[in-house]
Amino acid sequence: MERLERWSRGLAALGDATAGVMTAIYRALGRPGRLLQDLLNGSFLGHALHPVLTDVTIGGFTMVVALDLVALIFHAGDLETATRIVLGLTMLATLGTILTGLTDYKDTASGDERNLATLHGWTNIAATVVYGVAFFLRLGGSVAIGQLLGLLAYLVVSAGAYIGGHLVFKYGYMVNRNAFAGGKRAKDFTAVLAVADLPDQTPTKAMLGTTALVVVRRGDLVFALKDTCSHAGGPLSGGTLTERGIVCPWHASEFRLSDGAVRHGPATTRQPTYRARVADGQIEVQGPIR
Ligand code: FES
Repeated sequence: MERLERWSRGLAALGDATAGVMTAIYRALGRPGRLLQDLLNGSFLGHALHPVLTDVTIGGFTMVVALDLVALIFHAGDLETATRIVLGLTMLATLGTILTGLTDYKDTASGDERNLATLHGWTNIAATVVYGVAFFLRLGGSVAIGQLLGLLAYLVVSAGAYIGGHLVFKYGYMVNRNAFAGGKRAKDFTAVLAVADLPDQTPTKAMLGTTALVVVRRGDLVFALKDTCSHAGGPLSGGTLTERGIVCPWHASEFRLSDGAVRHGPATTRQPTYRARVADGQIEVQGPIR
């Protein structure tokens, strides 16, 4: 796998170009594009949407292989209609899989993570094209060659899926960055910052033990969230404020200040939050709130 990772570095230019095109498309789409991006990232689900659709796609392609094998072994040529329907529906699901994948992909970190994601994505897109050719060949009556091409594409899709899994397990791609580091737990209110050091309406970093927090004061209200963005680890203390939220400086995920809920992706997981108050000239926090 490491050799494959090294090889994928040759795809860096293709990866940067693909991510650039996706970013430009979403920027051109404006606010509707932002909502579409939230939908395709899976921000509304609390879970990335892409792996949900890859399961549908791979399940469909596996069923096609199974039907072809049954037809071959038992000379059941009458299974062809069912196989075409399954293949056609799976091709439709593939469109969603590719769109969700490209939407997640545009926010990958450049370097080995993006290179491997490029290999994963383009491998599967190539396999999908082969499946498309196989589908139309079968519709035209060339069943045997369609079956052969389909089997070839299935092997390629399986390799692409394996690379995708490696991307998640090795690089934590689209995994909640706070899953294994929920942050120090403060049972009692603990001072983290002097009020004098917290300008109004300015995201400010504070430390609770070894855990970095972002603290925001809005008049009499004080909010505290974990500083590490759940999407890919960006520092929220470097972000900007909106009417109700804070926007991550890396890929513009927006979290509600009051409870850390995701208002906009690519993040899909709520940001850990703390109770915050002013006492004796200090900002004190307690939590995180479960
Ligand atoms: S790190 Fe990607 S949005 Fe925060």
